[in-house]
Amino acid sequence: MYHPSQKNSSSTKIYVAENENMWYNVKWIMCFCTKKTVRKVVFIMEYKFSDKVSKLHASAIREILKFTSDPEVISFAAGNPAPEAFPKEEIAAISAELLRDDPILALQYSITEGYTPLRDFLKGWMTEKGCFHKEFDDLIITSGGQQANELSCKVLLNEGDTLLVENPSFIGSLNAFRSYNVNLKGIDMEDDGIDLNKLENALKTEPNVKLLYVIPNFQNPTGRTMSLEKRKAVYELAKKYDFIILEDDPYGELRFAGENIPTIKSMDTEGRVIYSSTFSKIISSGFRTGFVSAPAPIIQKIVVCKQVSDVHSNIWAQVVSHRFMSTVDREAHFKKLRDIYRKKCDLMCSYIDDGFSKKISYIRPEGGLFIWCTLPDNCDMNAFCTKAVKDYKVALVPGNAFSITDGEVSHSFRLNYSTP
Ligand SMILES: Cc1ncc(COP(=O)(O)O)c(C=O)c1O
Repeated sequence: MYHPSQKNSSSTKIYVAENENMWYNVKWIMCFCTKKTVRKVVFIMEYKFSDKVSKLHASAIREILKFTSDPEVISFAAGNPAPEAFPKEEIAAISAELLRDDPILALQYSITEGYTPLRDFLKGWMTEKGCFHKEFDDLIITSGGQQANELSCKVLLNEGDTLLVENPSFIGSLNAFRSYNVNLKGIDMEDDGIDLNKLENALKTEPNVKLLYVIPNFQNPTGRTMSLEKRKAVYELAKKYDFIILEDDPYGELRFAGENIPTIKSMDTEGRVIYSSTFSKIISSGFRTGFVSAPAPIIQKIVVCKQVSDVHSNIWAQVVSHRFMSTVDREAHFKKLRDIYRKKCDLMCSYIDDGFSKKISYIRPEGGLFIWCTLPDNCDMNAFCTKAVKDYKVALVPGNAFSITDGEVSHSFRLNYSTP
């Protein structure tokens, strides 16, 4: 039985164990939990984490999401697809047929590059969209867009190299980049995308700029879309300053207003653009199926790194994704998704316009899942979002959760209109 006098000097954290009838070997302290002493204080060792992960912190979204387990809370904080957007019946039918007729294909190990028919399908589809250049590109299936972005950083950047990102940007990618100890530098955005003057200034002043990460379509978190002029200018800067662009496009198919704008990848003539996308927002986020289209030498390195990470992505989900994409009426499915999100976006915008137009300014998104709302300058955003969830049972994400540097002040918050 533990006694406080036994406190180990290197054990600084106190944890409460809820297990019953169990012996704990906590360094040299033994602690027994009986049925009567359900909760027991134990001291455990202090962990010395690697430099790589010590700078990572739990995202503010997760902190806010903790409150959303309260059934009374209406959450506009997550980024999940709308429940009605999942093609449930088609997936059930394809899965049943697959497991009945070809179970070993779905259950056996597969190859790292991905299920060949899916890769071939994607190469064709991406060629039509200008996002695959037969002359120099190859394509790999990844475990979601998240892994696509993480591995792109891993294969190209050394510790201390500079990676430029839009500020604010997608937390998942930022944390992936941080884990490689790169010099992460945020470039402010304007309504039509990254601020080109600030971008060029950073290119002149930051050391070893190797990569620029952008989300040109309906950016997460701002919902902004990069204009055609800016996409062209960004590509010209990449040539001038010799860096690679990582173009992340999970929301491209979800344009419900305005005109399509060519991807930066479609302008690529010399293998400077890595294009990553995912089925998360158009088939299923749980499938964890994404892909990267990039120059073949980059894909070869990603293959090696992916072998180390997870061998290959879920093969059942890859086969179902392939059968779904190649057998259903894709355009009809995408139209259905666009109709769902247009309606939801219109509804949320009309409530903002009717109820808060004097206080909140925002740019109406032309697609995707998010609205970026800005309040007057004197508003403390963390306090605002905490009050919203605690007192009014509405969950929002404070803008600084998406900032590049700690302690940055933001007067904005992100609203997601896809759920509930
Ligand atoms: C901009 C952006 N990139 C990548 C991802 C990750 O996608 P996935 O869920 O396929 O890993 C997300 C997910 O929300 C995202 O918003």
